[in-house]
Amino acid sequence: MQNPIIDLKGGTILITGAGQGVGRSVALKAAVNGAGNVVVNDFVLERAEAVAEEVRAAGCSAMALQADVSDHHSVREMFDQVRKEVGGVDVLVNNAGNSGTSDVYALRAVPFWEQDASHWQPFLGVNLFGVLHTCREAIPDMRDRGAGRIVNVISDAGRVGDVTLEVYSGAKAGVAGFTRAIARAVGRFGITANCVSLAVMKTPTLEKKLADPEVYKKMMASYILRRPGEPEDAANMILMLGSDASAWVTGQTYPVNGGFSLAL
Ligand SMILES: NC(=O)c1ccc[n+]([C@@H]2O[C@H](COP(=O)([O-])OP(=O)(O)OC[C@H]3O[C@@H](n4cnc5c(N)ncnc54)[C@H](O)[C@@H]3O)[C@@H](O)[C@H]2O)c1
Repeated sequence: MQNPIIDLKGGTILITGAGQGVGRSVALKAAVNGAGNVVVNDFVLERAEAVAEEVRAAGCSAMALQADVSDHHSVREMFDQVRKEVGGVDVLVNNAGNSGTSDVYALRAVPFWEQDASHWQPFLGVNLFGVLHTCREAIPDMRDRGAGRIVNVISDAGRVGDVTLEVYSGAKAGVAGFTRAIARAVGRFGITANCVSLAVMKTPTLEKKLADPEVYKKMMASYILRRPGEPEDAANMILMLGSDASAWVTGQTYPVNGGFSLAL
């Protein structure tokens, strides 16, 4: 689990949607790569608490905080609590997403031009507004300290487009554009902001689907490495961008996708 080039130097890392999947892996990896505090956020408190317990078992201090990132009041309360208990956040990982929820399957079944505008809200709310809400809270503290790392998790759906998930694709692409702009705005304060773009991952969201050998074979045919990503594959890149190993990297999007799409 330890990565020789990642050292979080005792800082506080906050990961949204860290109750399972990629976010959980980032939390556990941060715990053994120098984090001083790991703040485990999730919409579902029990998930966040279970992961915080795993982080503590790995010897790092942890807080489990329930907040819905799509609600800016809820996000402000979460950051207020972090400020009160451990000071500000040094590394912000915007990982929460809703690609695995029933909302997705409902939306996939209906052509975009027949969808009701109210169905789009959850996708824009979590994937796009969630990132704006947390960045607005984290940046002033980072600016005052003269340092900070922001890593936003997007999807190749936002780079190449998912034909049945237009709004999700648009929200993730929006985050990439926002990240480039905010990187320009905050670079002079010593803050970097980058994206990691994922393709099919072996997370609870897709594990069931991938268990069918026919589906697996069909899906993996478009992956150069012929396997889905493990949460740890994503966590390595996320934490590299969250550490000083990437001190001179900002405004970029890095695909971690087994070669699913090669063009940037
Ligand atoms: N799994 C994949 O194949 C895949 C592919 C491309 C991109 N991604 C992206 O990677 C990230 C992580 O994906 P994953 O598969 O590990 O996710 P997941 O669905 O397994 O877990 C996401 C976690 O986020 C939490 N969450 C959802 N909405 C939230 C909200 N409003 N506020 C706080 N927490 C919330 C959920 O409770 C869940 O615990 C997401 O941004 C996703 O869009 C995933």
